[in-house]
Amino acid sequence: MEKSPTADPVLHDLPEATLKELDRIEKMFELDAAYLRRIVDQFVADFRKGLSKYGEPMAMIPTYVSGVPDGSETGTFLALDLGGTNLRVCEVTLQGNHKFSLRQQKYKVSTELKTGEAKALFDYMADSVDHFLTDRAVDAENEETLHLGFTFSFPVEQSALDKGLLLTWTKGFSAKNAVGNDVVGLLQDAFDRKHLHVKCTALVNDTVGTLMSRAYLSGSCLLGAIFGTGTNGAYVEDVNEIKKLSPEIRKELGDHVTKMIINGEWGAFDNARKVLPVTMFDNKLDRESINPRFQLFEKFISGMYQGEICRNLLLYLVDNGYLFNGYSTAQLNSHYGLDTSVMDAIHAANMNSSSQSIQTRKVLIEQMGFQPNQVSDEDTEIVLWACRTVATRAARLSACAVAAVMEQTKNVGNALDVGVDGSMVQFYPGFEDRLRAALRDLVGGDAEKKVTIGMAKDGSGVGAALGALMAKKQADGKAQAVAQP
Ligand code: BGC
Repeated sequence: MEKSPTADPVLHDLPEATLKELDRIEKMFELDAAYLRRIVDQFVADFRKGLSKYGEPMAMIPTYVSGVPDGSETGTFLALDLGGTNLRVCEVTLQGNHKFSLRQQKYKVSTELKTGEAKALFDYMADSVDHFLTDRAVDAENEETLHLGFTFSFPVEQSALDKGLLLTWTKGFSAKNAVGNDVVGLLQDAFDRKHLHVKCTALVNDTVGTLMSRAYLSGSCLLGAIFGTGTNGAYVEDVNEIKKLSPEIRKELGDHVTKMIINGEWGAFDNARKVLPVTMFDNKLDRESINPRFQLFEKFISGMYQGEICRNLLLYLVDNGYLFNGYSTAQLNSHYGLDTSVMDAIHAANMNSSSQSIQTRKVLIEQMGFQPNQVSDEDTEIVLWACRTVATRAARLSACAVAAVMEQTKNVGNALDVGVDGSMVQFYPGFEDRLRAALRDLVGGDAEKKVTIGMAKDGSGVGAALGALMAKKQADGKAQAVAQP
């Protein structure tokens, strides 16, 4: 565990009343080993529920992908990746021997597109693919149809590799007339409206893409996890454990299919608030969000929300006279006005406490709109403490999800590979160290050491390409790895 404020030598300079208040708040965020254990037990119970019944908050979605790549795969495919923040179009060439090359273009998705009509959003995606192909000087009019894998990072109940109904939007998206529809159909219609010679042949969640691309790179992988704008994990499960698969689907899969990738949708863990330690800062975030009472776990740990939790905490301290002498700024006052990247920037100076203080002061002035005379040394200490408190809880909770998959798959103590991606792991200083510390609390030092955590760089793009390759093999009748219900 990290030090409590009263144990911190710098924070000792703060007035007694402030220290007492910070200590009280820190206790709300603290997760000791026993608490982590309760969370993991609930996680595993929810995994089992989701595997046995459709419609559970922890959706445990069967992906109909029953094998992971081994790195020998080859081919060139288009990939379209709609994540939480960016839209990317890529051309991925799988070279075999665990290597790939990738050319990509990023496109911005405006708030209007995220929250307007779904048709406009899907038309924009088709326009972006069109632009990418034009840029690449491919005559899409005359070329033979290009195969595209679609990484769509939202909960979709899949019924085939190229078919799935959107269950709900997350991460600030709310485009109308999409929920309940087949997202591949929506995309293909948009391509067809533009007369593009592009066929979407595979739909993969970003976690599935991460898992597959990590397996392609390293030869094996049990879990693909995203700790980014949103959070989620996909892992390899025994088909026998997926009790909700109907006898017809099992028959169709055949006896040779013994494993299947499950997209857990763990961002929805504990929507019922049974175990997560909901503080007043979390509750404020949730009730002011566009999806109150949904994605509770995601709201504790992902990049979209950590800045906002921190902002709520800082404003509480301002309002109660502990911080900035009661002042705030328009930026700090505005909803989502403290981006998680600001927390990253504050922690970036992770050297000694005085350089951290200087960096924090700089960020508060340059990015949060404070006047230099409004920020005292004590204020910077408190802001640093707040960022650390929120981020440490997030990393420790992230470990619970990883441990739950290890336990569910009976892999505690085995050597295993976890592929990760997302802004929290990429940019948040110390995220993996803190996650590992909590994993040690949960599964013990020996088991923790056997877990390799590796970035699945460009996982979504490579994963989509691998999905498109599977679809091609399936169409050619060679697919042992993929089955459809
Ligand atoms: C979505 C998941 C996705 C995750 C990470 C969540 O909000 O529901 O489908 O995998 O974000 O991008």
